[in-house]
Amino acid sequence: MENKISQVEAPAAEAASPVEHDAVHQGCCTSRRAVLGGAVLGAAALGLAACGASGPNEIPEATGKPEPVLKTSDLAVGGQASVTAGKTKLVLFRPSEKEVLAFSAVCTHAGCEVSPGSENRFHCPCHESWFKAEDGSVISGPANAALPRFACEIKGEDIVVYI
Ligand code: FES
Repeated sequence: MENKISQVEAPAAEAASPVEHDAVHQGCCTSRRAVLGGAVLGAAALGLAACGASGPNEIPEATGKPEPVLKTSDLAVGGQASVTAGKTKLVLFRPSEKEVLAFSAVCTHAGCEVSPGSENRFHCPCHESWFKAEDGSVISGPANAALPRFACEIKGEDIVVYI
């Protein structure tokens, strides 16, 4: 097993909220959004645009390889963590005592690593995208697609992700 915990975090204060980010980076992000918007319109014109690209992803079947990624006792209810399962980088969120959610930590904008944030949000530091920890959907871009979800469950003392 080659799992590595790089960060475990319970909800806490965060440096910059998406609102603050927008106020600071209005110029650069507006132009980037305009570029992305043009790309999306182009894709739609070709009939390639996906419906609900920013919405949450479905929970996949637990059919992959089960990988223990963290001890249940190391992730408090409401907490988030960055873990790896083999070569797959993940972010976890524990919304309740009996449930842990797992998402790809690869940002859907340009592939930077998404990490635990605050207030039930994951954060990509490269261009300040924020994602809902409850379902991986985009709160604020430039990312415009949800983080892919992995099946995950609590098995005894372990949090297991199906890769
Ligand atoms: S890579 Fe650009 S916001 Fe994540």
